[in-house]
Amino acid sequence: MLRSLSTSAFLAILAGILFAIALIAIVYEYAEQRTRLRIHAAAETGGDPRRGEAMFIQYGCGSCHALRNVREATGMVGPPLDGVALRVIIGGHLANNPANMQKWIRDPQHVSPGTAMPDLHVGEGDARDITAFLYTRAK
Ligand code: HEC
Repeated sequence: MLRSLSTSAFLAILAGILFAIALIAIVYEYAEQRTRLRIHAAAETGGDPRRGEAMFIQYGCGSCHALRNVREATGMVGPPLDGVALRVIIGGHLANNPANMQKWIRDPQHVSPGTAMPDLHVGEGDARDITAFLYTRAK
């Protein structure tokens, strides 16, 4: 009786440990993937994705664009920016590459006169960092 109780206790502890390991592995894999995306986006754009997220919030982009897990990014004026890194065309007719993304962010009225996205006077470095941040959004 005592032995079978300790066996089941042992199995329960074992199951608990395995569960914890699986959970840690999932969290680790998630963090790894986010880091990889950040490194990749930084290399591609020459910008800083973390600072770009702060700039995205500071310029109020989220008042017009929804973006998951970004504070106050719930706007419905422009398209949601989830997955924007994989979009082929941006702003109606520009090929989606880092240079064009920065051009669009800095000067949408020049790229597409009359578009509902206003010129927000985004500085060059800020546009580069925002681009880096947006390029971490592959889904
Ligand atoms: C007043 C609302 C408004 C604000 C503020 C705004 N946008 Fe936009 N944005 C739009 C609209 C509307 C479009 C669609 C324009 C079009 O296609 O002509 C757009 C398009 C875009 C696109 C292209 C998406 C696509 O799929 O074509 C990107 C990227 C983008 N905005 C980023 C930003 C960033 C970054 C900021 C902040 C610096 C910002 N926007 C601020 C309204 C806004």
